[in-house]
Amino acid sequence: MPSQLIDVQENAWKNDFPILKKGVYLDSAATSQKPASVIKALDKFYKTSNANVHRGVYELSAKATEQYEGARKKVAQFINAKPWETVFVRNATEAVNLVARSWGEANVQRGDAILATVMEHHSNLVPWQQLAKRTGAKLGYIPLKDGELDMGAALQLLSKRPKLLAVTHVSNVLGTINPIKELITMCHSVGCLVLVDACQSIPHMAIDVKQLDCDFLVFSGHKLFGPTGIGVLYAKEDLLNAMPPFLSGGDMIKEVSLVGASWNDIPWKFEAGTPAVAEAVALGAAVDYLSKIGMENIAKHDHDLIAYALEKLQQVPGITIYGPKDANKRCGVIAFNLGDIHSHDLATVLDQHDVAVRSGHHCCMPLIGQLNVTATARMSVALYNTTEDIDALVNALQECRKVFKL
Ligand SMILES: Cc1ncc(COP(=O)(O)O)c(C=O)c1O
Repeated sequence: MPSQLIDVQENAWKNDFPILKKGVYLDSAATSQKPASVIKALDKFYKTSNANVHRGVYELSAKATEQYEGARKKVAQFINAKPWETVFVRNATEAVNLVARSWGEANVQRGDAILATVMEHHSNLVPWQQLAKRTGAKLGYIPLKDGELDMGAALQLLSKRPKLLAVTHVSNVLGTINPIKELITMCHSVGCLVLVDACQSIPHMAIDVKQLDCDFLVFSGHKLFGPTGIGVLYAKEDLLNAMPPFLSGGDMIKEVSLVGASWNDIPWKFEAGTPAVAEAVALGAAVDYLSKIGMENIAKHDHDLIAYALEKLQQVPGITIYGPKDANKRCGVIAFNLGDIHSHDLATVLDQHDVAVRSGHHCCMPLIGQLNVTATARMSVALYNTTEDIDALVNALQECRKVFKL
């Protein structure tokens, strides 16, 4: 159970988020709410520094460039990467597509194997299916055992020496924390690269790409208390240098003639066209906000809250909870169904009690199919949630049981 000390902190953090004045928001896995400092950074950029970057020689453009590149440094530091290994993209989906197109088409050939897992979000699944179709490579999947990756099966699949494993750090449905470091070591021992989808881990724990030794890591800014329209691809310097551009056009070139072009240095080689400047600056503000609180404090808070929620939800008669039973093995989200109520109906009634949860397949249709359901409800927490929010969900679920006569 969370300590009283944590409750005091929780409430203080909640006050930083203007939208949270009313209602209970338990859908941060879909997108997080934004602290006032992030909203202010967006507003301030447009009021004081807006100009296109890397182009103008005038003062305002230099200021915009300085802030954009400053944000890159902050984000890089946040994950212990070098700024030139940190590419700004629109979101995690674009980052995966960038790797599948650029690295994939240059390195994967007919007959090669690539690997994903059954618990991947469509964003880390469909781009690999498409790559396999284009190249004639074989896409295999690490299966699940009791809501966790089957590591024995992973070992067997790795004996085929796949070129790359695309794996989520934390499942956005089951909440399972995957043994990412162990997987990376296993993959590297057979020459297989690893792309980590950190969308559901990075808001809840410190991420150090050097310590993980991952080859690629992707996440979306909007799930990390930043704005929409900005995401991050981390890749090892050597890989980025060797990869051909993904999109082409302005800013990603060194020289252009009527017959061809040469490419800019990394990371700009992968940032064609005018980037999301204000959004990058605001993501920098989000990282400042998180660093000030400390990711260790956030990790403890979020873990305690999920442990509390797991315990309370298990006491609701008729509930089915998906994913590991042990709170130490999970993070951020709890997916569930109540009796035979469709999750959309459940979410609608919960909303009538001012509790916002997600319902549906959560962009994980293969996984949902393996759970033998068509949909689930899903609550997810962030640093601003409190035990009172969980109690409100549990009380609202009891009301649902009355409405649906369970
Ligand atoms: C695990 C995971 N990967 C990828 C994504 C895709 O994120 P985006 O839609 O911001 O690209 C999500 C979003 O829900 C996710 O949960």
